[in-house]
Amino acid sequence: MKLSRIGLVLGLMLGVILVVQAADAPKDPIVMKDAPNGAVTFDHGKHVKAGAKCEDCHHASKPEKAATKEQQACRDCHTKPPAAGMKTARQAAFHNPMAKTGTCVSCHIKQAAAGKTAPTKCADCHKKA
Ligand code: HEC
Ligand code: HEC
Ligand code: HEC
Ligand code: HEC
Repeated sequence: MKLSRIGLVLGLMLGVILVVQAADAPKDPIVMKDAPNGAVTFDHGKHVKAGAKCEDCHHASKPEKAATKEQQACRDCHTKPPAAGMKTARQAAFHNPMAKTGTCVSCHIKQAAAGKTAPTKCADCHKKA
């Protein structure tokens, strides 16, 4: 009797912890639809599983436009054209015009060289509906 109540209390506490942790995890997938050459579907779960850390993509707050949360949608700050006081436009937040370097592409090129299936071609990320 007593043991099962302890179990119930522990179970409830674990449940609360799981709910609190889940609160920040955005639901998969996130579809970004701003690029004229097609929408990009991004999956947090696959990236975290592949070993990516939040801070690999979500940089620390910068003075030109301070963050309101530890992880925030890039679109809140990186727009086309860039907002007043900002220089990194929407595309540049993810990759340079030829998609040879940048947040998404630099890691993918490294991963692909190591034999992983990380996409490096335009049409592998940008899909027209
Ligand atoms: C590989 C890159 C990458 C990693 C790693 C990553 N994120 Fe993200 N995250 C993104 C992108 C891309 C978006 C969408 C940005 C947009 O729509 O402008 C995003 C959006 C978000 C959002 C906002 C969701 C929304 O719809 O407003 C939250 C919250 C977030 N991420 C939390 C996290 C947390 C927590 C981690 C670590 C567990 C993490 N991210 C790891 C790339 C990443
Ligand atoms: C709260 C606002 C904010 C959010 C959210 C945000 N950024 Fe930034 N970002 C900035 C500011 C401010 C700068 C520096 C000024 C500039 O370059 O325009 C910057 C610069 C950058 C740069 C230029 C690199 C450098 O070191 O100068 C890249 C790349 C970048 N951000 C990518 C991202 C990505 C990818 C996301 C989403 C996962 C993101 N940012 C989310 C505000 C933000
Ligand atoms: C730290 C390294 C890293 C960064 C940064 C990164 N990726 Fe990836 N990405 C990977 C790896 C590794 C895979 C292969 C994962 C697998 O095969 O399960 C992958 C796979 C993918 C895939 C194919 C799998 C799928 O979900 O359909 C897409 C699309 C993708 N990434 C988009 C992005 C975008 C968009 C960004 C930038 C916001 C990004 N990635 C940033 C490492 C990274
Ligand atoms: C690893 C995935 C990935 C690859 C590879 C990639 N892109 Fe992107 N690209 C993105 C993401 C994510 C965005 C932001 C999408 C959004 O805002 O809806 C983006 C944004 C863009 C934009 C900007 C849209 C705007 O509003 O400013 C253009 C244009 C673009 N990409 C063209 C290309 C071209 C051309 C290539 C190949 C040379 C390429 N991309 C390769 C992920 C990728």
